[in-house]
Amino acid sequence: MTAKRLQNITESATIRISNLANELKNQGKDIISFSLGEPDFNTPEHIVDAAKASLDRGETHYTPSPGIPELRRAIVEKLKIDNNINTIAGNIIVTPGAKQAIFEVMLSVLEEGDETIIFDPAWVSYDPCVKLAGARTVWAPTTCDNGFTPIGTGEYITKKTKLIVINSPCNPTGGVYDKSTIKEIADLAVDNNIMVLSDEIYEKIIYDKEHISIGSMDGMQDLTITVNGFSKAYAMTGWRLGYVSAPKEVYQQMVKLHSHSVSQATSFVQYAGIAALQGDQACVQNMVREFRERRDLLIKGLEKLGIKCTRPDGAFYAFADVSEYGSGEAVAEVLLNKAFVATTPGAAFGKAGNNFIRISYATSKDRIKEALRRIEAVLD
Ligand SMILES: Cc1ncc(COP(=O)(O)O)c(C=O)c1O
Repeated sequence: MTAKRLQNITESATIRISNLANELKNQGKDIISFSLGEPDFNTPEHIVDAAKASLDRGETHYTPSPGIPELRRAIVEKLKIDNNINTIAGNIIVTPGAKQAIFEVMLSVLEEGDETIIFDPAWVSYDPCVKLAGARTVWAPTTCDNGFTPIGTGEYITKKTKLIVINSPCNPTGGVYDKSTIKEIADLAVDNNIMVLSDEIYEKIIYDKEHISIGSMDGMQDLTITVNGFSKAYAMTGWRLGYVSAPKEVYQQMVKLHSHSVSQATSFVQYAGIAALQGDQACVQNMVREFRERRDLLIKGLEKLGIKCTRPDGAFYAFADVSEYGSGEAVAEVLLNKAFVATTPGAAFGKAGNNFIRISYATSKDRIKEALRRIEAVLD
């Protein structure tokens, strides 16, 4: 009775683990959650105030489907200043979360028989979106030896390659692609006329490296679809606000899908988005400072326990190699059931993650210290 297109797609593994952790929590266990992909900070006050003011002004009606003009213009400005990307408001769609933007991109670009290159390990929703579009994922493994950044991407290109997905800083590895890596992918895209979907949602959560947008590279303007959102940089996960800048041809297809499905992002949330982009960015800097301290604390602690983990350069995840103790899945299960520490098995993000667990350090330093103590006790 149900459609085949969904039968080989499974529930997001990150959600499955958090459900298990919640079950234990409901039994009264003190669970330390290292599994969630969301900042533990409150949304900055000036953004909340902007939403309240919008509600007070009665901005509770339908907006234009691709978004309110003021926000689309603010996004164009942001992409120019932060990312050196030249676009126009007419190429921007404001979406309820970056996830919706990614889904719409896949459905608009891909069709049966097409291949999409995804670097393994990768965020859990890219491959299901590719499948929903009827296309196929070609997994290109990355390794911790070079900070989980792509090498030899050309080997995975075939006549069927339509799209390459990049995500820097990367969820789940925290890897950040440097300029030469981005340039290599851009050159391949230009030479082979392949589109690139660049998911830049963690761009602001970066420590010692510089974020480079592939859409700023020579020849990439008409081949890049840039996706970003407010969830991570502004601690706005529940608001559901993201956006995409797409070349005209792609935009024209996406906008149809957008208008016939979600219609638009929530009206007053879009006004809050303007406040986020145009307001004081000190809130972002403060969050990043805190994330950096947590990262350093966690990495030092893991090192002391003898757990191998490349120091992440961005996002708020550490991807730890636990092969000495078992598969990522087995170790995550032991950590949850014995130490009451919820992590995510690396396999949730692709085969290259089999020996790893993802540790989200979007939790306080005290909880990180406590988790390290518990992990030590279990490993002993
Ligand atoms: C890499 C990546 N892209 C996109 C998203 C989706 O973000 P949003 O909350 O804007 O839908 C996430 C959320 O976890 C993510 O980690």
